[in-house]
Amino acid sequence: MREEIPKLVGRPVSPPVSFRDTVMKFSEIQQLEDDYQIATYKKMGIALDRGEGAWVWTSEGERYLDLYGGHAVCATGHSHPHVVAAIHEQAKKLLFYSNLVYSDMRGRAAEKLVSVAPPTITKVFFCNSGTEANENAMRMARMATGREKVVSFTGGFHGRTADSISATFLGRYREIGKPNVPLHVEAEFGSIGSVRAVADTETAAIIIEPIQSMAGVREAAPVFFRELRNHCDEHGIVLIFDEVQTGMGRTGNWFFSGSELADSIEPDVITLAKSLASGVPVGACLANDRVASCIQENDLGTTFGGGMLAMAAVLATIEAIEQDGMIENAQRVESQLRDAIRGAPYVTIVKGRGCLIGVEFKEECRPIHAHLLEKRIITGTSSDPKVLRLLPPLCTLPEQVELFAAAINVKGVLSTE
Ligand SMILES: Cc1ncc(COP(=O)(O)O)c(C=O)c1O
Repeated sequence: MREEIPKLVGRPVSPPVSFRDTVMKFSEIQQLEDDYQIATYKKMGIALDRGEGAWVWTSEGERYLDLYGGHAVCATGHSHPHVVAAIHEQAKKLLFYSNLVYSDMRGRAAEKLVSVAPPTITKVFFCNSGTEANENAMRMARMATGREKVVSFTGGFHGRTADSISATFLGRYREIGKPNVPLHVEAEFGSIGSVRAVADTETAAIIIEPIQSMAGVREAAPVFFRELRNHCDEHGIVLIFDEVQTGMGRTGNWFFSGSELADSIEPDVITLAKSLASGVPVGACLANDRVASCIQENDLGTTFGGGMLAMAAVLATIEAIEQDGMIENAQRVESQLRDAIRGAPYVTIVKGRGCLIGVEFKEECRPIHAHLLEKRIITGTSSDPKVLRLLPPLCTLPEQVELFAAAINVKGVLSTE
């Protein structure tokens, strides 16, 4: 029985403050954001209001097909009812308390996440974003080995905080992050010879984005991952897979780690964020015993990591993926997309796995991206100007892929034809 407590504060305001205003036109919303937000993002000319599955609706009530999944975040689709209900129930009970106390919700989310991870993974550390997960993963590797050097790969993206951006050998990111953290060394993605040349007994970690999404959905052969594992074992190096994009079912496997894409090898640490909680900000480092056992009290920490609201969203996200068979659906989406794109004009290669697909064109794909947006289909570009990226929700339906197929199979959009 719940004890009745007299209410001194916190009576609900009706209607809630954020919904009180009258509906705003797109031009007003745009003006308001531009007036008050630092101008660092390049935006599409729409404001979104609500979503359901792979559909989103603008402030003007127009429906768009979201094949970009809210920036690779909305794997369960927009506002999945199971996730929304879990957040709602938890919000009514307790929004937050830090790791100074125990929580059944935190325990359940951690247990569930470890249960779907590769078998050697036994523990999790929760934080708030992808870059924070990578910072902590590299810190754990340094603690576990007593070494400082970190090897990462040309084309990999690991985030924008100091250590993660220093591990990002892509475009001008390291430049943005100056001064860089010392002892970050670059190797060639997919080349074990290049790894052997730089990763040695002074190396704490090798961190790799197993499918390089931002770089244009670049892939490496499964044997490369086995060779990487062997090299790490021979030299006592911690192997970190940055699965911020590839994790949580996106490739048609719970994780790239341990799947046939990695020749079944498992890393020592897996980092996650993006779709881990369907849009509630959460990051995580999954670790095996070897690494986890090296971490002592106060070595890692963050105020918000593992908060109850976020944990409810993590647990419900995993349950939704399981209950709706989304991993199998991600595989189906891939094969349907491949069939649909195969004969499309201007396409040279289709890359990637599951719901992480790169479509390479004969020339720059910006006009295709703009054409699709005109047809009310949201897709993404990449650092490779020729590669269009698709990161659709794992619940994308056959008729939604058909809409994309019809829109992409048109001539006259690029100059080559
Ligand atoms: C592979 C990868 N790692 C790390 C990050 C950084 O994640 P966040 O933006 O949550 O810090 C990203 C973000 O795009 C990413 O794609």
